[in-house]
Amino acid sequence: QSFAIASIPGDGIGGEVIDAGLQVLDAVAELSGGALEFRVTEFPWSSAYYREHGRYIPEGGLEELRRHDAIYFGAVGSPEVPDHVSLWGLRLAITQPFDQWANIRPVTFLPGVTSPLRKADDVELDWIVVRENSEGEYAGLGGRNLSGRGPGEEVAVQTSLHTEKGCERIIRFAFDLARTRQVAKVSSVTKSNAQQHGMVLWDEVFARVKEDYPDVETERVLVDAMSAKFVLHPEQLSVVVASNLHADILSDLGSALAGSLGIAASANLNPERRFPSMFEPVHGSAPDITGRGIANPIGAIASAALMLDHLGLPAEADAVRAAIEATTASGILPLDLGGQADTRQLTQAIVEALRNS
Ligand code: NAI
Ligand code: MG
Repeated sequence: QSFAIASIPGDGIGGEVIDAGLQVLDAVAELSGGALEFRVTEFPWSSAYYREHGRYIPEGGLEELRRHDAIYFGAVGSPEVPDHVSLWGLRLAITQPFDQWANIRPVTFLPGVTSPLRKADDVELDWIVVRENSEGEYAGLGGRNLSGRGPGEEVAVQTSLHTEKGCERIIRFAFDLARTRQVAKVSSVTKSNAQQHGMVLWDEVFARVKEDYPDVETERVLVDAMSAKFVLHPEQLSVVVASNLHADILSDLGSALAGSLGIAASANLNPERRFPSMFEPVHGSAPDITGRGIANPIGAIASAALMLDHLGLPAEADAVRAAIEATTASGILPLDLGGQADTRQLTQAIVEALRNS
């Protein structure tokens, strides 16, 4: 089997962690004894590219991307370009046209890793945050200078868009996912007490859809209460479904509770498979540590495992996850998890663990 992978390292540590993930994919191919091949094409789209060409994605770029089986993305964001320009110029410029409406972000403890939540090995945590990834607060609707008045009196509007179809497909996705898990439970997050239009629609759709899944336990939690619950009762969660903004924030909290933003993986899925899906670590370009060779590659490598799942290679995906766990369990940890290993050493250890599995 041969797969065409588009890699977009992007900015900052994006290149460092994508390189690590590709080394792991190479090892997966090598261990398959020729049964698997990953043909990787790198696209140099970044903030440096933008400053040279005035755009992140060249003419025809999306059509080229579309010919791949999956996209492996690093991060975008640079001190030289406003963040809303880079995010909309590259990341959202792919997720939106490719209708990658489901963003999944698993949160689990790794063996040997302690965190604010986990002082010892006796607490367990195993969730998937399911993020609505196509509309909501990041629909891009609104505008500036709406008052028509002068400086000091500007009015800006940022509108959330919630469609019944958009709510329904992400909520159904969460229920279908819950059924595949040990704890079949879906927690729906909104702020429907204060946001009385779109989020009430979400609640109504949730109430309707859950009738089709009587075997799945459900709860509705407001986002502020959920942030407390993440910290105080993490063992009560399995699948957490939320809007674009809420899930974005909650999943960063989740990864910090698990140990570090550096270990969090994500998949931007087009579940209908009309377009390629995109796999990326949750973290950004981390300009504060770029170029030092110390970025934690686990988030990117675990994202590559999600890509293997999506390509129909669950055994290989599990082997990669097991190799990450064997490595952290043996005490080889990156700096952000309190260890000493740099990117190269940690990646090497994970590749070794994979070879020994
Ligand atoms: P960030 O995730 O880049 O960094 C936050 C903190 O976590 C920093 O102290 C960083 O050093 C640390 N960190 C992140 N990933 C790490 C890793 N793999 N290993 C070790 N430490 C790690 O978020 P920040 O600082 O808010 O944003 C920096 C830039 O990244 C901005 O331009 C932002 O817009 C962009 N960004 C891009 C994202 C994407 O491409 N999907 C997501 C989040 C931010
Ligand atoms: Mg985020």
